[in-house]
Amino acid sequence: MRTLAVINQKGGVGKTTTTHNLGAGLARRGLRVLLVDADPQAHLTTAMGQDASAQKGGGLFEALTGEAAPLDVVRTGVGPDLLPGSLALAGIESRLSGTPGREALVRRVLEKLPGYDVAVIDCPPNLGLLTVCALGAATEALAPMQAEFLALTGLAALLDTLRAVRSRINPELALAGILLTRFDARRRLGREVAARLDEHFPGLAYAARIRENVALAEAPGFGQDIFTYAPGSRGAADYAALAAEVAERAPRPIP
Ligand SMILES: Nc1ncnc2c1ncn2[C@@H]1O[C@H](COP(=O)(O)OP(=O)(O)OP(=O)(O)O)[C@@H](O)[C@H]1O
Ligand SMILES: [Mg+2]
Repeated sequence: MRTLAVINQKGGVGKTTTTHNLGAGLARRGLRVLLVDADPQAHLTTAMGQDASAQKGGGLFEALTGEAAPLDVVRTGVGPDLLPGSLALAGIESRLSGTPGREALVRRVLEKLPGYDVAVIDCPPNLGLLTVCALGAATEALAPMQAEFLALTGLAALLDTLRAVRSRINPELALAGILLTRFDARRRLGREVAARLDEHFPGLAYAARIRENVALAEAPGFGQDIFTYAPGSRGAADYAALAAEVAERAPRPIP
């Protein structure tokens, strides 16, 4: 199974939007897809129209602590399956303190969920335990970023983290790619950052770019992915192009 961890320590760059719609795009291409909500904000769970309150059957937290069997907490419906998140995840660090090998716990959970072609994990906006656990389970990291100059500095820090995880926890970890989100080609800044990205990290950015599109911001309010909510939108076209590229492109070594 390919496992993609969607990561960026910066908030609001499009991690959840990308996890949801890339997952839906891959499912539309015939792949069996599992989405994993590893963020205590549980935005992915809500965006998929699911109840994120822990009472409702449990989710990733209960699977990580051993209170529930992973198979029992996966929610199925139309589109990708979901291993839900909840606010309880905010307490996972203290709950698992002293647990040996806790960085491998997400991997253990996913190993108990066979039959998927690809899993996509939505990470929180920090490089804490949940993100490290997600990277410990991942074959690849996918980094969404906005076209801003400071985002390039953030990217360097992110690559440091990926290298640390690769050397200490997960020697298999590779880089799926860097994804420019909320892109506006009419702005000079967007074009300049894209050029800088290609210059410093050649071959790492996806050709697909996600443009600013209001339908992408509206769809989660209806519990729908972009292909269901607005199939003719730019957002649907951009995420379909990304899904095609992710499906076909081999992962790169972390630079
Ligand atoms: N291409 C886009 N066009 C318009 N709005 C977008 C786009 N991508 C994301 N958004 C909106 O921007 C906000 C942040 O996106 P999202 O939640 O995906 O980011 P995130 O990186 O997951 O945030 P966090 O770090 O808080 O988890 C959301 O309201 C989302 O609907
Ligand atoms: Mg998010």
